Amino acid sequence: MSAKGKTIYRCTDCGADHPKWAGKCDVCGAWNSLVEEMAARSAPTGGAARRAGGARTMAEGGSVVATPRLREVSGSESRRWKTGINEFDFVLGGGIVPGSMILIGGEPGIGKSTLLLQVAARLQSGGHPTLYASGEESALQIKLRADRLSEDAGDVSLLSETNLETVLTTAAAVSPAVLIVDSIQTVFTNDLEGAPGNVGQVRECAARLMRFAKESGTAVFVVGHVTKGGGIAGPKTLEHIVDTVLYFEGENSLDHRVLRATKNRFGSVDEIGVFRMAQDGLVPVANPSELFLGDRSMHSSGSAVTALMEGTRPILIEVQALAAKAGFGTPQRVATGYDGRRLALLLAVLDKRAGLSFGQLDVFLNVVGGVRLQEPAGDLAVAAALASSVYDRSLPNDAVFVGEVGLGGEIRPVSQAERRLAEAANMGMTTAYLAERTVPKRVPKGLRAVGVRTIADLFERVFT
Ligand code: TYD
Ligand code: MG
Repeated sequence: MSAKGKTIYRCTDCGADHPKWAGKCDVCGAWNSLVEEMAARSAPTGGAARRAGGARTMAEGGSVVATPRLREVSGSESRRWKTGINEFDFVLGGGIVPGSMILIGGEPGIGKSTLLLQVAARLQSGGHPTLYASGEESALQIKLRADRLSEDAGDVSLLSETNLETVLTTAAAVSPAVLIVDSIQTVFTNDLEGAPGNVGQVRECAARLMRFAKESGTAVFVVGHVTKGGGIAGPKTLEHIVDTVLYFEGENSLDHRVLRATKNRFGSVDEIGVFRMAQDGLVPVANPSELFLGDRSMHSSGSAVTALMEGTRPILIEVQALAAKAGFGTPQRVATGYDGRRLALLLAVLDKRAGLSFGQLDVFLNVVGGVRLQEPAGDLAVAAALASSVYDRSLPNDAVFVGEVGLGGEIRPVSQAERRLAEAANMGMTTAYLAERTVPKRVPKGLRAVGVRTIADLFERVFT
């Protein structure tokens, strides 16, 4: 066997292994699905003994290890490192768990390196030595970025390196509390032949970093650029390996950014943290509703506000609809931040249950601020915005719409109505339209909760 270890090519679709690379997996027939992988070390005895079967062969090559009782395992949840960047700690579930591995995904240029440099600065000054390994930028480039930040990152250790073995050996020698690898697509291991960034390399490097994290107790942050398809480095392979997956999103043209946990072994998912990209780095936004409603176009038709739950936190956002006379052919349906099929469904319901015909109209729907409206609770605002555009009548400025719309045009209850209404009241809303059954007994001061049964019922109240 060569000193490099044996590599095989594994199909990412069916898992079959192949001794050679091929364009097509001859087991499942998938194209372009083979990735390079390290073969598991074979047992010292030959294959014949293995085929003979029996208990002895099953245990071959193993050794007896300790099996402590759960209660004997030391360490506790309370041992988390806080960065002091509240939005960041909150999304992680209260801080960084030592020995955990966290993946931060996002499009290039969204601010991942900036965020992690700020995190590094805070951790370092909070007494947790941090090593920032970058394969993307030189030490000087990182220094120039650090100079812009409000945080002082002066004591953070830097490593400009793409070789994983070097990164790991250096990290083992420096033994930082936190290791940051920016990015996983730029590091490579000598044991695989593929270029940095290919799925095999990315997976193997991530697996080794994970092992390093567990063995050393170092918390490891890994940056992953999101590919066009939306996955981090190929078919989401990394997400299974790491403990926590954070996505950093936003539109490059807008200056706010949303950090979202989509997987978290140490906290709840779906929590978000909101930041603003400023001259001196990312600034946490304590009141996201204010940000999202800030530039609302008052008194124009086609705009409605809803109260979303992002994790445990309610946020008010604006939905804009524009229904305009279509040109030739099939009218267009364009939705940004909203599911296209859900829009089609709502249009059909509006047609059938409220007599609004969109057959000759192009429909554009936009959830403001780059937010994704995925909760059914947003239906009512979408329906109201669409109707408002068709009627060309504006909705009340200080009203919020919360409810799922059923196929019969009925308004269905949503979860956590009280928290949503509380946020609406906080933001100065005076009326909330929601399903009759959801109207809570105690409504926040200054807010009137109006129960509605159907969309027709709602339109009667707001447009007449
Ligand atoms: P960066 O962190 O390099 O993005 P990523 O690592 O996700 O690729 O962020 C790059 C952008 O952020 C760049 O367009 C400049 C902008 N930026 C600011 O607006 N303010 C700042 O203080 C910094 C450091 C960057
Ligand atoms: Mg970067």
